[in-house]
Amino acid sequence: MSTHGNRTAARRWRAVATAATATALVAVPLTLASTSANAAEAHVDNPYAGAKQYVNPTWAATVESAATRAGDATLAAQMRTVAKQPTAVWMDRISAIAGNADGNGLKFHLDEAVKQKTGSTPLVFNLVIYNLPGRDCFALASNGELPASDAGLARYQTEYIDPIVDLLSDPKYQDLRIAATIEPDSLPNLITNISEATCQQSAPYYRAGVKYALDELKTLDNVYTYIDAAHSGWLGWDSNAGPAATLFADVAKTTKKGFASIDGFVTNTANSTPLSEPFLPDPNKQVGSGQVRSSSYYEWNPDFGELAWTQHLHSLLVAAGFPSSTGMLIDTSRNGWGGPNRPTAVSTSTDLNTYVNESRIDRRTHRGAWCNPLGAGIGELPTASPAGAPAASHLDAYVWIKPPGESDGASKEIANDQGKSFDRMCDPTFVSPKLANTLTGATPDAPLAGQWFEAQFKTLVKNAYPVIPTSSDPGPTATPTPTPSVTPTPSVTPTPSVTPTPSVTPTPSVTPTPSVSPTPSATPTQNPGASCSVSYTANSWNNGFTASVKITNRGTAALSGWTLKFSFANGQQVQQGWSAKWAQSGSAVTVTNEAWNGSLAAGGSVDIGFNGSHSGTNNAPTSFTLNGATCS
Ligand code: GLC
Repeated sequence: MSTHGNRTAARRWRAVATAATATALVAVPLTLASTSANAAEAHVDNPYAGAKQYVNPTWAATVESAATRAGDATLAAQMRTVAKQPTAVWMDRISAIAGNADGNGLKFHLDEAVKQKTGSTPLVFNLVIYNLPGRDCFALASNGELPASDAGLARYQTEYIDPIVDLLSDPKYQDLRIAATIEPDSLPNLITNISEATCQQSAPYYRAGVKYALDELKTLDNVYTYIDAAHSGWLGWDSNAGPAATLFADVAKTTKKGFASIDGFVTNTANSTPLSEPFLPDPNKQVGSGQVRSSSYYEWNPDFGELAWTQHLHSLLVAAGFPSSTGMLIDTSRNGWGGPNRPTAVSTSTDLNTYVNESRIDRRTHRGAWCNPLGAGIGELPTASPAGAPAASHLDAYVWIKPPGESDGASKEIANDQGKSFDRMCDPTFVSPKLANTLTGATPDAPLAGQWFEAQFKTLVKNAYPVIPTSSDPGPTATPTPTPSVTPTPSVTPTPSVTPTPSVTPTPSVTPTPSVSPTPSATPTQNPGASCSVSYTANSWNNGFTASVKITNRGTAALSGWTLKFSFANGQQVQQGWSAKWAQSGSAVTVTNEAWNGSLAAGGSVDIGFNGSHSGTNNAPTSFTLNGATCS
């Protein structure tokens, strides 16, 4: 295969470059002479310190486009601040490396990163390695393309890790600091969910796959590896935390460089667990019948947030053999919990569970609720060496690994070719046994995991905590807000061994009455023949594009419902639309208003949009009809 050929060539190229630097006797191609003259920097302890981070222009464009539809000037300005923040680039399947309908390939992003690097300021590129055989063994929403089998592992190695490392090894990227988040949820699932047949099947491939990824990535000095270490609400109990540290050490020991193949750990990836609970600073505090941590919500888990968890884990890692220089990252992309439901003071109740439920900023009914949690907000902006965090957390940075606005999973079955399934944890009408029989609290109408989910994005920005500034230049290294201090983790503990299925049943604070999705307010037949104009703009890359569509009612009467129709000329396909109901049959697209934007005053307009795919040519549609009448 050509991939293999490229790989060999790239490796040989790197070897020559190194030899050339050392001896200057080897004849090297002209292109390499300048590279070797400009030697790459040495590996540093904290790659984020003093560095900028890569801002994904494709994601930023989607956020900018959402800002045009925000319908509120403050919210729009906040979205524009969000668009300037660095987020990670996820390699979530083999085709993501070259680029696919969901985004540009890795080379595009690396080239853009080189352009974003200015002067001698280092640039960190956050990359997510996420394609293990048997991926997401305890859930369904992010099941992957590779089976948990020897054949799946072979493909992971040769068709996924090798091509990624080949690309990274190009000398033109040697001055980027590549910070790789390695395989979210994988090793943690082997701690708490190994009783599941699917996780048992995946276990050997997770270990072998992570080892392979580390061995190959660590052939490059400018790569920094961060192993995913779940979050406090998953591994915080000593009975989970201890075995997790042991497993991480065991995997490290199987690698060629041992402990040196892991630079650090990243917690809270794509989760919404807060940094800490400002109104519950002491897990041991006695209230009513017991300690705060013995409440139904915390189930004796001593770690109420990620600052506690990173401290706890770091001490266990060092005890297991990791160097004390091991750094921690926390994904703060969606753990802000601001907005109208955030408590503003500690509860005065003397009933333990009421006290905890009224005081906690984490508004999920259960800490195991991971899918598109309704009410979550963006957390701290990406920040290197955050000043307010405890030294014992050994934080390299707060980072945004999950790009805010991308779904965690579909709220209903959606056909796809990525191996993703429907997980009822993403269905807001579902009462989950994994959540002590409470409703999932998932945001309704969610698209497939990884797809743009504008309704959720709006809430994330509105409920951000700290509030997102509206000024034009709070760049990626904005000033951190001081974080409340965290009480060190206590030692006594009776513990449930599996996080998502607690033995204590908390009293659900929400009655499980399934909500019904709204029905469109009017049918187009009530509004025949609307005079109209439509502007359609598309921002396209490889085989994908984002289109913004503005519909204006040019008639003299208001509409109480509308249907827009158009046809694609080049076989384009709508992947996922927003602010309207989108349907496609062959080349014909039919778009109907949502319940909330069906009324269109005379002269009024509505902005809608969608992500689509194309096969090379992407001409705009040439004619549109609104409620049957042709638009200008
Ligand atoms: C999810 C998806 C993945 C996506 C990522 C980032 O885990 O499974 O496809 O790239 O989130 O949004």
